[in-house]
This record gives sequence, structure tokens and C-alpha cells, in this order.
Amino acid sequence: MHNQDLIRNYSIIAHVDAGKSTLADRLLEITHTIDKRHLKEQFLDSMDLEREKGITIKLKSVRMYYKLPHTTTHQHQTTEHKEESHTYQLNLIDTPGHVDFSYEVSRSLAACEGAVLVVDVTQGIQAQTVSNVYKALDANLKIIPVLNKVDLPGAEIEKTSEDLCRTFGFYRDEILQVSAKTGEGVEELLHKVIKKIPAPEGNAGLTAIPRALIYDTFYDDFLGVVAAIKVVDGTFSLQNPQIKFLATKAVSTFQETGIFTPKRKKLDRLMTGEVGYIATGLKDIHAARVGDTITLADAQNVEPLPGYKEVKPFVFVSIFPIDNDKFPELREALEKLSLSDSSLSFEPESSTALGFGFRCGFLGLLHADIIQERLEREYDLELISTIPTVEYKIDKTDGTMISAKAASDFPATTQIKEIQEPWIKLNIVAPSEYVGNIITLCDRRRGVMLKMDYPTENRVVFEYELPLAELVYNFFDDLKTVSSGFASMDYDFSGYKKVIAVKLNVLVHGEVVEPLSHIVLKDKAEDFGRELLKKLKDVIPRQQFQVALQAAVGGKVLAREDIPAMRKNVLAKMSGGHRERKDKLLDIQKKGKQRMKRLGKVDIPQEAFRQVLSA
Ligand code: GTP
Repeated sequence: MHNQDLIRNYSIIAHVDAGKSTLADRLLEITHTIDKRHLKEQFLDSMDLEREKGITIKLKSVRMYYKLPHTTTHQHQTTEHKEESHTYQLNLIDTPGHVDFSYEVSRSLAACEGAVLVVDVTQGIQAQTVSNVYKALDANLKIIPVLNKVDLPGAEIEKTSEDLCRTFGFYRDEILQVSAKTGEGVEELLHKVIKKIPAPEGNAGLTAIPRALIYDTFYDDFLGVVAAIKVVDGTFSLQNPQIKFLATKAVSTFQETGIFTPKRKKLDRLMTGEVGYIATGLKDIHAARVGDTITLADAQNVEPLPGYKEVKPFVFVSIFPIDNDKFPELREALEKLSLSDSSLSFEPESSTALGFGFRCGFLGLLHADIIQERLEREYDLELISTIPTVEYKIDKTDGTMISAKAASDFPATTQIKEIQEPWIKLNIVAPSEYVGNIITLCDRRRGVMLKMDYPTENRVVFEYELPLAELVYNFFDDLKTVSSGFASMDYDFSGYKKVIAVKLNVLVHGEVVEPLSHIVLKDKAEDFGRELLKKLKDVIPRQQFQVALQAAVGGKVLAREDIPAMRKNVLAKMSGGHRERKDKLLDIQKKGKQRMKRLGKVDIPQEAFRQVLSA
């Protein structure tokens, strides 16, 4: 029997490491969705990388069933009028916590009626706590605030509760206390989910035109493109499998439908309010886009569901195989990865220095790291990648405008009229003692402060505008350093602004090494060039001849370093002691041997690129 009133679609939102995945484990256990014996820790983080890094990268959904115990009564009811016990269908949509994947949070929320807000009670409110609450409020969700990790000695229950009330207007007595680790309070949370979160609305009438919202897509080798959906109106049934996609206008015949348990389980149909999947029958993941509406192929004048937002890559990295013959393998690997990750974009690129590779677009730095790591690990490729860049807009003197995602896209200085760079709106939350450090850091990174608030005396909240290029240069690491790891942040694209920048080239033995080119602020070019050459000098092994390193803008050389001709033993001139440095040098030399790229006459080890490109 389908009873829409017994469905609850909810998500868990939290800052990274607040304990979302661990809480999900307990929920899976209590509802007997997964046998305790089969429950690995952080079950929903099923990718190796996710488990290793302890982060959720890809959202996942799981359906649980839960019967409210008989004893549940309303206050005014006597024991003779016990509430009838029903089995509820609870659809949990897990969301990733890292800022790079914040877009995935919005999509999951669009398919829910409520959200469990998990706050780590040893950390208090963090940046993504704030941004996720606003996302949930935007999506009109009922929010259940939860303090997690109450088992820990450092739990600041009173302080965090008060902060939550002041910041978001929660009532003190609606805030639950749980320990995802011990399971304390989790059953009560489940009851709250059922009582507080509304059942999905939507037209279940026999004549209702079926509409479903796609909140995720992935590729399956056998089924092709699978769309994770929430059925908003009507029913999707195998008896009537001709469907169309309103935004992309794709038409297909679906082959299978069902639910996530969290494995896929086939069903004949999905009804109003239910969350599950449709194996679309499509082969191209771009034809079934997240946020798009699925309806029946023959339905007329169907109103698309709100919630669609196109994802745009924020940062760009060019990736080349060290061994040029591996280009086809790299292409195949990227194609495979992009089948399941529609936010990954790539286009072929060739460089005189590095041969054939791909210019890839990512949602953020973590996304870029993860993809590169997966390429190397899962596809056994050895790669060289350029420094992450942002997309500049360039007005040329001939009146045309181009976009440049890498230094190599930049035209000659004489052809440039004006350059614009992307800016972001950045929210930073930190304990108040770090105010000074954070302001100094943001100043150095060209930040413009828009707002500074103290929601409580211990916590400061900043709103900054900052060039995205600054963020890309290790801003997050620096922020962590100046705040002893306590500051957290969240950002969103805000617009383009003019910048006076130049392309700084690096010449090795007279030849421009394109992947080492950087776009830098004009008045910082010289300092930057010097620093860069110093680093390079340390990591490029000596050759049989002296090698000149130069940093230049246009034809003008701004800095120079020389690498003297080879000695037999790299350690010969190192005066004793410094074991670590020696080891490091030997290590670099060793790695260099394995992975060397011959550029013109000079061998440059992969490690040199890594060192310089992670500058
Ligand atoms: P992301 O997936 O990166 O967003 O993290 P998450 O929010 O899913 O956090 P996760 O569940 O991975 O937990 C982070 C760490 O906190 C893990 O080491 C957990 O074991 C620990 N943890 C989670 N909940 C509790 C709790 O209630 N008590 C204690 N003591 N530790 C907890």
C-alpha cells in the first residue's frame, strides 16, 4: 500500500567531520537496513579514497523502514488511545561536506522535506554549518538541530546550544543531543524525523502527470546513465516507460526503476513522494542533467520543477602523461571518470614542452586533487599537471574578447586591453582570538572585508570578497595555519573584476617551459619570479653543462639563477649533519630518475614540476 503520509525524505547537513557518516551508520543499524555484521565504519563512504581521506565525495541515498514503537503517545492521550503504529519509509540522502561539493548539497536538499543539522559540539558552529543552514532554509526545509559527539570530554553543550539559538533562531528544547559513536540519542532523533519533517506533497491522483526531479546521475556499465530521482507528482511505472527530459529535450525508454538500499533494488514503479532511481536507457550523461525534470514522453505543457543550476568549473589544471604514448589511455580514463562525474570537464591540449594532454575543469582544488589521484591510482597513469588557474576574461585591442584558462591562452601583452578575473564571496567563521591573523591574511590576499560580526563573544564571522586566484594559491592551508586549524570557510562565485596582471614565463636554458608560466599581478611579477627560480634551482638536477633559469615578462628578463654543471655526487658539497635534507635530496633524485621529462636539452624531473606548481 502506498501511503504518501508515511514517507519522510531528509538529509543530514554538517560541516566536514561533524560526524554525518557515523550518524548515518547508526541510522542504518537502528532501522536494520544493514546488518551490524556487514556494517563497516562510514558505510556510505564507499569509495576507497573517501574512506582513506575520511570524507564524503559523492552523495548517496538509502531507503530505511522504521516502525514507531507503540508506546508513543501524545501528551493529552491516555494509554487507551495509543497512536496506531505505522511503518515509515525514510529516505536519507547523504551529502558531501567539503566546500568543493557544496553544489551537491543543494541538489540533495531539493529532493527533501527536512534536514538534520549536525553540529560537532567540540567545534561549535563552523562555516559550512552556516552555509548549509541557509541552503536548507532556501529550500524550505524543516531543520532538526543536533549536537553530536556529546560523549567527548570537550563537549560544550550549553555554549553551542546558545550559539545555535542566537544564530539561527532555534529553540533551546528542540536541539537534540546525540553521540553518533555510542548511539546515544539516535533513536530519539529518528522519532523527531518522523514527527517534525512533513510528508512530501505532490499530486498522487490517477490523472496526475508524472514529474520527477533528478538530484544525481551516475553511469553504470550495464544500465547506462542512471538518474537518482524524487518523484514529485504521479507514478513512474515500467508499464509506461517512454520518458523525456524537459531541459535537455532527450527522449528515452527507461529499462529499470527501483530504490537504493543502499544497493539498487528493482521495483515495478516509483510513486509520488518516493526517492529512488530510473535507469534512463541513455548512454550520454549530459542528456540527463541534475536538476532537470523527467516526465512522460507524450505529456504536454509540463511545468519544469525548480532547482536546476548548471555547474561550472572554478579551477583549471592541464594534465599530461609523463609518457607521451599514454595519451590515449589518459583520454579513456578521463572519459570513464566523467561518465559518473558530470562536473568534470576536459578538452585536449598540446604543449611544446609536455606534449599532448588535457585541460581539465574542476569544482575546486580538492576535486582536482581527487581526480588526479584517481587517474594515477585507478588507471595507473603517471602524470604531470600544471598549477591550477582560474578563468580570465581578456578584452583585446582588436575589440574581441577571449577567455583564458591557462597562461598559454594569454595573447601577447601588446594585444591585451584589459584583463578581468573572477572574484568570490567568502565566509569565514573562527574563534575570536584569531581575528587579527585572519584580517592580515585576507589583506595580503587582496581581500575586501564586507562584514565582521560577533554572534557570540567567542566567535567571529567574516564576509569577504576575494579574487578566486588568491584562494587557489593555498589560501585554505594558510587560513588553517593562522587560526591553529580552527577557522572554517565557505565561498561562492561573485563576479568579474579588472586586474592588472601579466604572464610570467620561465625559461630553462633559453627555452620557455610553458607549464611553468604563471599569471601574476604586474607589481608582484619580479618577486614571484625570483622565488620561483630559487625553488626550481633546488629541484632541477645538474646537467653536463651550466643551465640558466630566467623569469621573464614579454621579452624582459626579471630574474635569473644559474645551475652549475654536474658534479658526480649531489651530496659531495653538503657539509655533514642535515640528515633530513640529504634524505630529501636523495629522494628527489631517486624520484627524478623514475620520472624525468626531457625539455629541449634539459631533463626536468616530475618532482620539479610538483614542487614549483604547488608553490
Ligand atoms: P565528511 O564525510 O568529511 O563530511 O565527515 P562526516 O561529517 O561524515 O564525519 P565522520 O562521520 O567521518 O566523522 C568524523 C570523525 O568524528 C570520525 O573520526 C568519527 O569516528 C568521529 N565521530 C563521529 N561522531 C562521533 C561521536 O558522536 N563521538 C565521537 N567521540 N566521535 C565521533
